Amino acid sequence: MNSISRPMKPEVMQRGEPILPQSPENGYDQNWYPICYSSEVEPDKIYGTEFMNGRVIVIRDADGKAHVMSAYCRHLGADLSDGEIIGGTVRCPYHHWRFDAQGTCVATAVKDKPPANAKLFHFPTAEAFGFVWAFNGTEPLYEVPHFPIPEEGLEYRTEFNVLTHQDHFIPYSNSSDIQHLMAVHKINLEVNPEDVEIFPHRMHYFQTMDVPGIGKLRQEVFVFGTNCVIFMSQFLGRPVLNMSSGKALPGHRTLHTMITATPKGTGQPGEAEQIDLALSEGMRFGNQLFNEDMTIMKHLKFRRDLLTHSDRMLARYLDYVRAYPRTSIACDMIA
Ligand code: FES
Ligand SMILES: [Fe+2]
Repeated sequence: MNSISRPMKPEVMQRGEPILPQSPENGYDQNWYPICYSSEVEPDKIYGTEFMNGRVIVIRDADGKAHVMSAYCRHLGADLSDGEIIGGTVRCPYHHWRFDAQGTCVATAVKDKPPANAKLFHFPTAEAFGFVWAFNGTEPLYEVPHFPIPEEGLEYRTEFNVLTHQDHFIPYSNSSDIQHLMAVHKINLEVNPEDVEIFPHRMHYFQTMDVPGIGKLRQEVFVFGTNCVIFMSQFLGRPVLNMSSGKALPGHRTLHTMITATPKGTGQPGEAEQIDLALSEGMRFGNQLFNEDMTIMKHLKFRRDLLTHSDRMLARYLDYVRAYPRTSIACDMIA
């Protein structure tokens, strides 16, 4: 008689639940997103750029105020960034329908009245630190990201060129990820997760960073939405502020701004050199952090899987991200 061995039932192994990707189906986080440099939006020109799952246009109205709107014409879908500004309106390149700065179609090129619902999606728009920002929603849920010192009192430098191949909330989990700060950046971080103030659309806390070559920095941290983090430190005896914020792009990519700022000088001798050094150092440090993470960010398949005691801060951030409001309100209009 043949003996039949029972096949072993393989145990199915699984990683933790992913946080839903940003997409038209799942929605995009209701954040302020940097869209472009203010200087890229010239009067009487239409600037077109990728955003979330599609494309937007940015224009200036007669008062110079910037407006971010969906890029596709409500007639047959021409890309309005191929059009022209005519008489203060966006004129579509295809059949010359015209849209005002609120996105309402005000005229066709024939005798027909524009259809009543011929409107583009108009994002709440703001300008700060030399960038145009758009809020993903109909009404902003919080103020555009800002430092605790007003912009007018600051000298600052900006960059907008670091691209990561992950949805924005993943690179922005880095500042709460203490194990990675030690392993990747050689930074020791002291922070008490219980002391973190968490609000529906922002976080606030204090931490001490021990940075090789710089030493211990006491920092105040502000997180806005799920795509922006600000560190305020004392460096060379002056406050140095760093802000990084990510623009959501098609294909789960994120383009990051970096803004480094310090209070304007008061004319003291040697101050200009100090300001210059503080700004260069702030920018260099931000770039270094992104560079050190780059390969990991490229290949990461992010899950909240098995966390340990040192991940309590990260766990709080990821809970905040999971609870964060999303919307798809603009997704069909921009694609
Ligand atoms: S597609 Fe724009 S006017 Fe026809
Ligand atoms: Fe990092």
